[in-house]
Amino acid sequence: MSKLLIQGPGRLEGELRVHGAKNSTLPLMAAALLCGSECILHNCPDLSDVDTSVRILRHLGCRTERSGSDVLVDPRGAAHWDIPETLMREMRSSIVFLGAIVSKMGKATLSFPGGCELGPRPIDLHLSALRKLGVSIQEDHGCLRCSAEQGLKGTNIAFSFPSVGATENVLLAACCAKGTTVITNAAREPEICDLADFLNACGGKICGAGDSTIVVEGVKKLDGCEHRVIPDRIAAATYLAAAAVTGSTLTLTHVLPAHMAPVLPVFEETGCQIDVDGETMRIVAPKRLSRMKNVRTMPYPGFPTDAQAPVMTMAAVAEGTSIFVENIFESRYKHVGELLRLGANIKVEGRVAVVEGVQRFSGAPVEAADLRGGAALVVAGLAAQGETLVSGVKHIDRGYESIEKSLRSLGARVIRIPEEPAGKVPICRAAVYQEG
Ligand code: UD1
Repeated sequence: MSKLLIQGPGRLEGELRVHGAKNSTLPLMAAALLCGSECILHNCPDLSDVDTSVRILRHLGCRTERSGSDVLVDPRGAAHWDIPETLMREMRSSIVFLGAIVSKMGKATLSFPGGCELGPRPIDLHLSALRKLGVSIQEDHGCLRCSAEQGLKGTNIAFSFPSVGATENVLLAACCAKGTTVITNAAREPEICDLADFLNACGGKICGAGDSTIVVEGVKKLDGCEHRVIPDRIAAATYLAAAAVTGSTLTLTHVLPAHMAPVLPVFEETGCQIDVDGETMRIVAPKRLSRMKNVRTMPYPGFPTDAQAPVMTMAAVAEGTSIFVENIFESRYKHVGELLRLGANIKVEGRVAVVEGVQRFSGAPVEAADLRGGAALVVAGLAAQGETLVSGVKHIDRGYESIEKSLRSLGARVIRIPEEPAGKVPICRAAVYQEG
């Protein structure tokens, strides 16, 4: 597996275009399966999770082509209703295909997504909602066999928690169901609105996306459409964190500032100045960050769990003590042990992390255990004195388009070291960072 070698500390400078949102692209690609003709999604990020979705659609029989940031899906050849276990394991969020497959094909066979890097990943909310829509589901030996021979029927679905994936699965399943579905306590994330906008552009009738109650009036069929994926608010927050820990001035383009509203106050608390002009955002970071008040992850419009790790990196080198409370996932502090290797002072007790800011990180070998935690280690490496070698980069590649190239374009000294034969240790020389 390749590694990232970072020579810090260094300032970032310049302008970076933020890529399209991974978490929108995946459900949109699943939604394309429902359409009666081809769809073109613009602004799709070049990520391994998008590759996995392309492979799933091709496996199902859809012609799927990628050209730059465009993905074309022609679902007219869809003939299969299963997702192979290897693809389910590669991307646990492949579960979002379930609602679309069962709606389109009247049946679906998937393996159970199981646990993941963030702890157990139950899908009980997805399954109980789909059962209410008329899907019969048998769970045996890690396999989900679903069928809806009579077709899907609109109903009332009240979620006990506003799960993003379960809300998406219900939108996909209910869009072409008979009758009306009312979802209460629906997730309100911008990616839900993006999915509803896409489905409506294809002829769907969905009202209220972005609010807690969504009403889906089932339609007989959907056409294809062209749609532009929203910008990735978490990638944007990560690059802001990179600027913050390095005392830099950085401009991000192609962002939707409204989607960033839950994270911006935290940056401002630390002394960063953020200026917004249309879809451009400029951050000017102070020499030393101040502590932040409590950061509690919550469903949107609360502080996003996906930004917790990169923002914790800021707290780890800020002046004073910051407290984090992770309310969404059970096991989302795997980056903490690695930040400690870089010299951070963080104590975790259950869902709470107490972060005592240190003056500076010092470079060390660290391992990414998950996507956002891995990105946090890269952010920390930029601010660390000396070399930081980040392994487990496949996790980071799931959510950031060539992170090393993006950072290098801003002046950071980061290179990707391709997989080495066992036992061979990379040689680190300053010149390599420029060549990379
Ligand atoms: C999505 C995002 C992920 C983000 C998360 C929360 C995608 C591809 N991924 O994940 O990046 O971190 O939202 O904002 O969009 N839960 C259950 N039962 C269920 C479903 C969820 O108990 O059936 C629990 C989960 O274990 C977790 C919480 O609900 O503790 C939130 O999960 P959910 O909102 O479903 O996240 P995902 O859709 O998996």
